[in-house]
Amino acid sequence: METQTDMGKNFTVVMEQDRILVEDYLSQAFAAEPRHADLQEAMEYSLLAGGKRIRPVLTLETCRMCGGDPQAALPFACAAEMIHTYSLIHDDLPAMDNDKLRRGRLTNHMVYGEAAAILAGDALLTAAFEQLTKALLPAGRIVEAVRCLACAAGSAGMVGGQALDMAGEGRALDLDELELLQSLKTGALISAAAELGCIAAGGNQEQLQCVRTYAQALGRAFQVRDDMLDIISSQEELGKPVGSDQANEKSTFVTALGLEGCGRLVARLTEEGIEAIRGFMAPDFHIWLAQSLAQRTK
Ligand code: IPE
Ligand code: IPE
Ligand code: MG
Ligand code: MG
Ligand code: MG
Repeated sequence: METQTDMGKNFTVVMEQDRILVEDYLSQAFAAEPRHADLQEAMEYSLLAGGKRIRPVLTLETCRMCGGDPQAALPFACAAEMIHTYSLIHDDLPAMDNDKLRRGRLTNHMVYGEAAAILAGDALLTAAFEQLTKALLPAGRIVEAVRCLACAAGSAGMVGGQALDMAGEGRALDLDELELLQSLKTGALISAAAELGCIAAGGNQEQLQCVRTYAQALGRAFQVRDDMLDIISSQEELGKPVGSDQANEKSTFVTALGLEGCGRLVARLTEEGIEAIRGFMAPDFHIWLAQSLAQRTK
């Protein structure tokens, strides 16, 4: 009989294979473009700096779980990663979190300057939507993907969450405010990444709703864990500074619930997420992923 650890090993291999597909695709994405000043270099500096690639892996494996071919979902997956990378470049700017290290290297603005970092983010955001149109999928699915990613990335999603995050600096937010902020700034894009996989597979509305419930819970757990790691981890492990939230006087789930309360919340959200996808024929990767992310150290 296969043990939990054996299963974990198999899924680590799946994750690594997906990650390589994503890295290859991203490394070619701008290769044929004419270079303008240091714009493409700045974009690739952050895009190809590693990162866990959770969002694109979620797209590929959700496509598989919904009965599709993950390869066909690759442009959707990489679009989600481009939006995520842009959000990190802007998040680190002096006007926002003012951080100097990301993915184990100097932040984009520290190397290329603020103007170039803003432009690299702008260009990655735009390129993401171009990528969606490159998928070899029926036009209706591409339109649905554009709508999904636009809603998740914009003012009703990630950017809205970042606005609440910035407006909340120096103020104690209550739990409802924090939940809204976190579900927008992180949950929305993680959910979109999974939904894109379902859309690529041509999944039905019922499947899409289950995927959404799973990924929204996963995304919220992911951000609570991120807040915990800002306190309990190290710069070496994370590849980004620790103590950034406190330095910026941010309200986080740690300030609201304490570390133990956060641990319980992550466990509860993880279980909630897993329940939502149990009805799929092969949900094991998603169950393993949710459990692994709940324990992650980076
Ligand atoms: C960091 O995201 C920002 C949050 C939304 C918490 P990740 O932890 O996925 O960062 P990378 O992509 O691995 O660098
Ligand atoms: C940012 O949250 C989430 C984004 C939308 C980029 P954080 O500010 O907590 O992310 P880190 O800790 O800098 O990665
Ligand atoms: Mg931030
Ligand atoms: Mg930050
Ligand atoms: Mg953080």
